[in-house]
Amino acid sequence: MKETFFTLRTVMWEEDDTVRMIDQTVLPTRLVYKSYDSWEEVADAISRMVVRGAPAIGVAAAMGVALAAQRSPAGGRRQLLKDLEKAAAGLRKTRPTAVNLFWGIDRVLAKARSVEGDPRAVKEALKEEVLLMAEEDVKANMKMGKIGASLLDDGDVVMTQCNAGALATVGYGTALGVVRAAREMGKCIRVVIPETRPALQGARLTAFELSHDGFDCMLISDTAVGSVMASGRADKVVVGADRITKDGSVFNKIGTYQIAVLARRHGVPFYPVAPRSTFDMTRTYDQVTIEERSPDEVVRIRGRRIAPKGVPVYNPAFDRTPPELVSAIVSDEGIVRSPVDKNLASVIR
Ligand code: MRU
Repeated sequence: MKETFFTLRTVMWEEDDTVRMIDQTVLPTRLVYKSYDSWEEVADAISRMVVRGAPAIGVAAAMGVALAAQRSPAGGRRQLLKDLEKAAAGLRKTRPTAVNLFWGIDRVLAKARSVEGDPRAVKEALKEEVLLMAEEDVKANMKMGKIGASLLDDGDVVMTQCNAGALATVGYGTALGVVRAAREMGKCIRVVIPETRPALQGARLTAFELSHDGFDCMLISDTAVGSVMASGRADKVVVGADRITKDGSVFNKIGTYQIAVLARRHGVPFYPVAPRSTFDMTRTYDQVTIEERSPDEVVRIRGRRIAPKGVPVYNPAFDRTPPELVSAIVSDEGIVRSPVDKNLASVIR
């Protein structure tokens, strides 16, 4: 069987204590790795979507804090912790919707506070922690993949949205991890990829990743989703998530909600896939900030203007799919069956 593990790692901590990431802004035309030396550079990379996808930005932000530790000139533990808080505050401002970002930052800060001893001990501990987080991310994805693959049948055509693959995580992927695991089990799965305007993660990243790994896939325009569903050309929908709140609401890339509505209309099961770090069991849907990005993303395609100057633009980056449209949620802690709002708390602890 073909090796399906995505050999490219999206986010890495290097031996010279820098962070190395794939520059996703230039994919699919160029596969370029860039090195980041300071938390400010990592924050900028997250804001500009050099690195994107909820689990990937969670680990990247954590590595940003660990970089701040490495670069801190603090002679004592108290000053070092202050430097880390400053970096954490800057990293928190980058993107508001994916809860993984805040989870990653909080986890390394908690680690730093728990370490007794001089700054060197804290720096070492943070390095170990982010290496562990990166490994845990891949393991959680592989576990979810196996769990979620039970929902897919041999021959299924699966629609996704955005990129919830290896590129959105440290490696392997969430929604696409399920597709990978199904293939590893010998199932033949075809993936339908909506282009995902405005940033085109479907066309640029998912189409690249799936083609790179030899998956059978088909790119469609976002406007073709309804037609594809209506003509029975999608058996299931499998998407990632940026935040799942305690009421079972799923926040994911803009366009996910309309796919969920169409899926329900056409009797197609809708499955979000997300690791524990994407669940926000402290908030309800009305407490989540939906990121609004630059109008430029809408009025231009890859730098080229497609709309008149001065036209008013609304550019939300994410939307909410309510629990009643969700058939089941796949996580590394198990499958939350419908009704997901009622069943969430018994699976996600
Ligand atoms: O704006 P992006 O590209 O960071 O949005 C990414 C998504 O919405 C993904 O679907 C989500 O993070 C799940 S990734 C495994």
